Amino acid sequence: MENLILHNGHIRIYKRKDSDYWQMKIKAPRKKAIRESTGCKLIDEAKIVAFKKYNLLNSENRFVSKLNNQVHNFQKTNLLGIKNMSKTNIEYILKYSQQFIDLNNQIIKKNDMLFGKTIINIFFENSTRTRTSFEIAAKRLSADIINISPGISSINKGETFYDTIITLNSMNPDLIVIRHSESFINEYLSNKLNCCIINAGDGTNEHPTQALLDALTIKNTFGSFKNLKIAICGDILHSRVAKSNIFLLKKMGVKINVIGPKFLIPKYLSKLGVSIHYDMKSGLKDCDIIMMLRIQKERILNIQIPSEKDYFNKYGLDIYKLKFAKKDALIMHPGPINRGVEIDNDIADDLNRSLILKQVNMGVALRMACLKILIDNKDR
Ligand code: CP
Repeated sequence: MENLILHNGHIRIYKRKDSDYWQMKIKAPRKKAIRESTGCKLIDEAKIVAFKKYNLLNSENRFVSKLNNQVHNFQKTNLLGIKNMSKTNIEYILKYSQQFIDLNNQIIKKNDMLFGKTIINIFFENSTRTRTSFEIAAKRLSADIINISPGISSINKGETFYDTIITLNSMNPDLIVIRHSESFINEYLSNKLNCCIINAGDGTNEHPTQALLDALTIKNTFGSFKNLKIAICGDILHSRVAKSNIFLLKKMGVKINVIGPKFLIPKYLSKLGVSIHYDMKSGLKDCDIIMMLRIQKERILNIQIPSEKDYFNKYGLDIYKLKFAKKDALIMHPGPINRGVEIDNDIADDLNRSLILKQVNMGVALRMACLKILIDNKDR
């Protein structure tokens, strides 16, 4: 019997002594092997038939995996904020992300979980981490992702934000990721669009995927949230990251100290069950984690902010102030960091103490989980 093995053993072409025709045995991933005639007498034609059959079976697999969506513990089709999420939902998303941390550490960092799905990234404010990690996350799950830059869109011809978004919605995407300077804009859109929405940061309101990726980083570093004490330090008033983190970490039972100058700490904060400090020495006492925040100059109106040097002297994290915290306290920062303003070079670059780049790494896995969960929920 003549025999030819192709495509890492997924395709076998063979001809029996008593036959003029080539047979094929095809084994596509997650499919039973099939055996049938290629209907060809010539080997080159038989190969083409076999490869076509293999591709057909493989695309059927993808279609099947798309329809076989899971029932998730978090069943919403939008991710707008942490405030209204339950502890169980948060724990579920963190646990579900774990498989993507593993995938992202493999040589081939891709699967077909979102094959055939369309995602739009539209960022009306600057971004490096969030926009890129959503793009990488979508591509690793085989979704098609389109990045819209408002600067070269029809917004420059007078089209409103609302008209732009409903225009994109009409192209039938499965999910839109939106960053915008206006708080609660995604809530406003959420009952006007057919697709899922992820809030990638809305004004001073929330940045839910940042808080979730921060939680994933904490969980993967400390093992759990039990008995942890965290200091969140800097411009709390304008920080959506601080808000989402406070909502999330309170639900997980973490003790929170908030540190900053009085004019950058909102009055409502005391109602959220955090302890407020105006100096680093008292605020960092007994803390396991120090989360530093940037001064959000782009949102600061009618407030006289001190010089960067004065701010750094009082609230910038350096090796001297770090000693106020626990001996082995670790540092987090959502980025972008402003060296010499809220954080010193030595601290930012100390890989034994800084989790900043680990946060970025976790962000891809966490966003893969969010995309998959929301799109599954919508399909169901
Ligand atoms: N942390 C964060 O949202 O970073 P980007 O602004 O770079 O997306």
